[in-house]
This record gives sequence, C-alpha cells and structure tokens, in this order.
Amino acid sequence: MKKPAKLDIDGKEYELPTVVGTEGEKGVDVSSLRAQSQCITLDEGYANTGSCKSAITYIDGERGILRYRGIPIEELAEKSSFVETAYLLIYGELPTRAQFRDFSNSLTENENLHEDMKYHFEGFPYTAHPMAILSSMINASSCFYPGLMGTRDSQRFDVQASRLISQVRTIAAFSYRKSRGLPIIYPKPLYKYTENFLHMMFSDVYLDYELKPEVVRALDTIFILHADHEQNCSTSTVRMVASSQANLFASAAAGVCALWGPLHGGANQAVISMLEDIHESGDDGSRFIAAAKDKKSSKRLMGFGHRVYKNYDPRARIIKKVCDRLLNSLNISDPLLDIAKKMEETALNDDYFVERKLYPNVDFYSGIIMRAIGIPTEMFTVIFAIGRMPGWISNYKEVVDNPRSRIYRPRQIYVGEKERHYVPVDERTAKVKKSR
Ligand code: ACO
Repeated sequence: MKKPAKLDIDGKEYELPTVVGTEGEKGVDVSSLRAQSQCITLDEGYANTGSCKSAITYIDGERGILRYRGIPIEELAEKSSFVETAYLLIYGELPTRAQFRDFSNSLTENENLHEDMKYHFEGFPYTAHPMAILSSMINASSCFYPGLMGTRDSQRFDVQASRLISQVRTIAAFSYRKSRGLPIIYPKPLYKYTENFLHMMFSDVYLDYELKPEVVRALDTIFILHADHEQNCSTSTVRMVASSQANLFASAAAGVCALWGPLHGGANQAVISMLEDIHESGDDGSRFIAAAKDKKSSKRLMGFGHRVYKNYDPRARIIKKVCDRLLNSLNISDPLLDIAKKMEETALNDDYFVERKLYPNVDFYSGIIMRAIGIPTEMFTVIFAIGRMPGWISNYKEVVDNPRSRIYRPRQIYVGEKERHYVPVDERTAKVKKSR
C-alpha cells in the first residue's frame, strides 16, 4: 500500500498518507484530515483507531498470534521467566547473563517499601478492594522518591522501573495481609521474584510457606502471559497519562484503575463468581449460557470474547494446559474446572458464539489456577496488575522516549444543547429526575 488513500467529503477529494507495519498491518494516517477538511474521524470505543506506532507487542487477532518484541508467547511461556520477559519488554532484547543478573539484583535492591509507607496501609478499611489499595499505594510511592521522578533520564528511569516491578508485588502482598488482619511478611533477598511474592502472601511469622516448584512455575507463567497486550484499555490509559509528562508511578496507578473493571482485568474475578453461582445453583452451565445469549438478560459469559481476538486467545490455550498440569500435580479436583470445560465445549459448538467469534480469553482458566494456589478471588485482578506492569512500563518508556510525542487529546462530535442562556433559580422548572 504505497499510494495515498483518497477520501471524498461533500464532493471534494482529500489525500491521506498510508502506513504499513512490519507485519503488513495497514493504516490510513488521518492526522492531517481536520486541517485539510475541518472533519474529524469518529470511532467510539476506538475499535478501528490506531493510537500510536509501537514496537513492543504484536497481535494478530484473526490468527490468534501474540508476540512480545517479535518472540511468540508460546516460546516465552515455555522457556522464559517473568523477570527475563519483563527485561525483554522494557529494553527490547533478551538480556545477556550479566544484564539479567544486574536487572535481578536491581529488583532485589528495590523490593522493600519505604518503611513509612507501611502507615498508609493502616488508613484503609479491611473491606477495601486490593485494587484500590494498589493504585493508591503506587501513586503514594512517588512521594517517597521525589528525586527519581524526572521522566527523560535513562538512569533514573531504570531505577524507577525496577522499583515499580519489584514493589508492586510487595504492595500487593501487604494489602492482602492487611485485608486478613495478618502481620506483614517482608521479602527475602534470596528468593526469586515469584517465590518471594508467594512467601510474602502465605508465610507465617515463624513458619515459611512451602514453595512448590509447580506452583511457582504456574504463577510465573500467569505473569508472563499477562505481561503485555498492546493498546488495551489499561495500557492506553498509561500512555494517555504519560503523554502529559506525568511520572511513571502516576501513569501506572492510572493503569491499575483502568484494569480494575469487569470488562477488562476484573473479568478473572467475574469468571470465578460466575462459575461459583452456576455450581451453587445446581446448573451445569447450560442455563447460564442460554441467559448469556438472551439479549434481554444482562448476563455475559465471562472469560469469553475479546475485542481483538476473533480466534482462540493463544494465552487461553497455554493457560488451560497449565491449569490441567497444576491441578493434576497438586491432586486437586475442582468442580468449577469441570463446569468451565463443559461450558467451553458447549459455547464453541453454539451458533451464537461461533457467529460472533467468541472464544475463551486468558481469564477463563486463570482464576481456577489461582484458586488452586490459594489466592483469594479479590486478589485475582491484582495478580493481573503485577503481570502487566512490565507492559505498562515499556509503553510509558515508548511515549517518553519519542521526541515527536504529543499530549494525547482526542476530539469529539458535540451533540448537546445549542447556545442558550442562564436562567435565574426562581424561574427554573425541574427537568432532571434524580434517582433516590
Ligand atoms: N457473552 C455473551 N455475548 C457476548 C460476549 C460474552 N462474553 N462478548 C460479546 N458478546 C456479544 C455481544 O452481546 C455482541 O452481540 P450483538 O452483536 O448481538 O450485539 C457481540 O458479541 C459483540 O460484542 P461487543 O461487546 O461489541 O464486543 P467488544 O469487542 O466491545 O467487547 C469484551 C469485548 C468486552 C471482551 C466482551 O467480549 C465481553 O464483555 N466479554 C466478557 C468479559 C471478559 O471476559 N473480559 C475480558 C477481556 S480479556 C482481558 O481484558 C484480559
């Protein structure tokens, strides 16, 4: 696609440059359209809008392909570790031994929170959702390291990035301990990343949690599979905030808030609630599937469907295998897994789901693995946030390293009142009904 695209508006023709990505993705660059024609493009929900050029993650939703920096997710899930994958995403290449050692050491050096941050945990009620605590505490961290907050200095960026990757895990574990009224467990420098998270979550003060390699590997794989996913809702949020030159911690905290919703990261929690309800009601999943297809019902088959994948989510394929392997090795039989598998089979053979290309996404089986590990449901989205942190950081870096980067500022088509005049309070009649 070398020739410019042509657009006819009200009989006048405009030429717009075209763009082709390294994998042949085609786009029309509309950035000059308004200046030429006074018209903007309207794309509610951004389903057809490329917000940036990015060299981090490639997805082909039709063919079910996901690659980080060109490397297929299947290879990373099998051969890499979360820490190595984080390095790959942020710096663009797999690390040498020396680079990996330096990066790991930097994560260890930065794993402890500033001691005064502990007092902030006291202010949250026991009922606080861990995602609320996580976003608040990530944002609060920036107050403790004001000297690090410059955005364009690569050495400071390296320390900030390590601190954030390392501390998101510490904050997450502390918020869990707080919600259960348990004493805080500090990280152990000798443990690797995922081991340390499990230790901080589940050890007692006088008895260390027994680290089983298959559990560590399963959780590490979950982190790898969630590490990036190009311009999804939370990553776009991080880039949006970064574009205003807000610091890395503020940008990542915003990403956590976006991830919290049930249509995004909150889906893994919603999947387990759905499966539990189905199990408790004695349904085998078929009644729920019928309700999910009924347009009068607000139910959706959680863990199914994806904005980009119109084929099986490659992460779901990997996670299903990890789930089977883990439950077998721990000798766990979970009725929710049986229901999930039956529902998947039914949905994949049902015209409603087939026609709409709705396949299981990464969240469909991840919750069952986390349940088996003993991670409580309200922590599921937090696990997603820990995994997604390297992706947010690499996208943040791409924004601030780009000398042509501009503040993100979409436009709109205004559909409100035309100009009208202020009415004094005594002359007004109530037009808005307030819900009680
Ligand atoms: N169950 C039943 N119907 C569904 C589902 C579902 N899970 N997902 C989509 N549909 C239907 C819609 O009702 C719509 O039907 P229609 O054309 O008859 O109106 C059609 O499929 C298209 O759906 P949209 O909502 O337009 O698709 P969109 O791309 O906007 O949404 C989303 C994608 C949000 C993931 C959606 O599929 C969904 O809500 N899934 C369940 C929640 C979920 O699992 N989210 C996790 C996403 S992955 C992640 O964030 C890691």
